[in-house]
Amino acid sequence: MSKQKSITELIKDAAKKSKVGAYNKEDATHKRKVAWPLDCNIGPGLEGATACETKIGYINGARGQMIYRGYDIFDLCANSTFEEVSYLLQNGNMPSEKQLNAYKKKLTEYRSIPNTLRTLLGFEIENMHPMAALRLGTNLMRHRLTWKDSDSARPLAEEAIAADEDSIPMETQPYGEKHAKYEFKKHKTGRPADVRTTTDDGESRDTCIRLISGTATLTAAIARIREDKLPIDPDPTLGHAANFIYMMTGRKPTKEEERVMDVCLILHADHGMNASTFASLVVASTLSDIYLSIGAGIAALSGPLHGGANEAVIKMLEKIGPAKNVEAWFKKKTKKKEKIPGFGHRVYKAYDPRALILAPLAKRLTADEHGEGSVFDTANKLEDLVVKTLGKEKGIYPNVDFYSGLVYRSMGIPDAMFTPIFAVSRVSGWTARITEYLQNNRIFRPRAAYTGDFGKKYVPLKKR
Ligand SMILES: CC(C)(COP(=O)(O)OP(=O)(O)OC[C@H]1O[C@@H](n2cnc3c(N)ncnc32)[C@H](O)[C@@H]1OP(=O)(O)O)[C@@H](O)C(=O)NCCC(=O)NCCS
Repeated sequence: MSKQKSITELIKDAAKKSKVGAYNKEDATHKRKVAWPLDCNIGPGLEGATACETKIGYINGARGQMIYRGYDIFDLCANSTFEEVSYLLQNGNMPSEKQLNAYKKKLTEYRSIPNTLRTLLGFEIENMHPMAALRLGTNLMRHRLTWKDSDSARPLAEEAIAADEDSIPMETQPYGEKHAKYEFKKHKTGRPADVRTTTDDGESRDTCIRLISGTATLTAAIARIREDKLPIDPDPTLGHAANFIYMMTGRKPTKEEERVMDVCLILHADHGMNASTFASLVVASTLSDIYLSIGAGIAALSGPLHGGANEAVIKMLEKIGPAKNVEAWFKKKTKKKEKIPGFGHRVYKAYDPRALILAPLAKRLTADEHGEGSVFDTANKLEDLVVKTLGKEKGIYPNVDFYSGLVYRSMGIPDAMFTPIFAVSRVSGWTARITEYLQNNRIFRPRAAYTGDFGKKYVPLKKR
């Protein structure tokens, strides 16, 4: 019998299948100086608009290319860890051994949030959507860890007026200045003298690390509370991915499961100016704090058009049943012009590199179940059919959500937790982008085209 390939080898094989390959000269032409204001064609929902500059991540949808800070996603998944990648996103460079150890030490320290969990247990978590519970949890972290709620931390009245930019340039033409005159730069409320010095300021790098670590603990606790079980303390000897599985399921993962979860966390860490990243930046741009900004990201990610598709995929595959049913099911769907969850992407018109990586991992982890009636075989058959019929014609290929659910399920993770796992990883991208954006902050303020009436006269209630 031939030796089974390692997860790294499977990822390297997937890289060969992608159109991208190694860095090529064409990539350098995408690096350009941005001269504001920009001319761009903007569609509804800000489609096509460029909102800011970033050095964090890059996606080329035509080539199926995805990059964090200059490193290709296949390279990172094959060789790196979530700890390294989240450090990279936050700091812009790969850590030295010493830097990585210091970063891991902080993650370990911040993974334990007993006060927050105790407060969380006072709510009806079992009756809440897990994303709503997670949003509540990050808010409770803020409450417990920052001094932001103290009376003396409120902005001064004159600062509040200065921040109300709406009243000033709303109806003027945008000039595209990097800093508007009315915006107060380097804003810091400063820690009031009467608050504890041990608390977080809600704005620093440490806040980001607290959130990256704490979101995993919160998500694991929510999964357990939903099953009527108590949260489990993190194990300081385990890394981020292994701890996450352990705190959620109560069992130490195998090396392979740990590696696969690590890859999943790397894959979901950042992805351009998607809805949840934008939502978190919008909140941060008001000079709110990072905890509340992350809450906005979690809220946006919870929607079925964004982070919720992986759960829909599993439901669909179960509904289809064995692989032999796929063809008839697909015919019916295409006749009704219905969209198939887990396929298509606003940016990718080639194979989503994340799906290319996850497909062989899902296959490996579900190997025991292959054969008549296996969910993986149904997925595989559906992928073949969709790619054959819609791939070339419309650029419809599997996206990240198509195989991720199968991977999580194989580790005993309940379906309702798939989207929160997305957040556990994406919090590293959200925090990195918030920190970057705040260096040149400009409050987000697009406009809406008014298509309503003018000149209407108020009619008293009784005369209407
Ligand atoms: C992700 C998504 C919202 C992107 O949509 P979009 O870029 O706005 O693409 P459009 O809705 O304009 O679709 C373009 C064409 O492809 C088709 N298409 C898009 N996604 C499809 C899918 N999942 N299944 C079948 N056809 C699809 C559309 O019907 C449309 O066909 P038409 O030109 O004949 O009308 C969309 O592909 C989708 O809803 N996918 C399923 C949900 C999902 O998996 N979401 C997670 C994304 S990570």
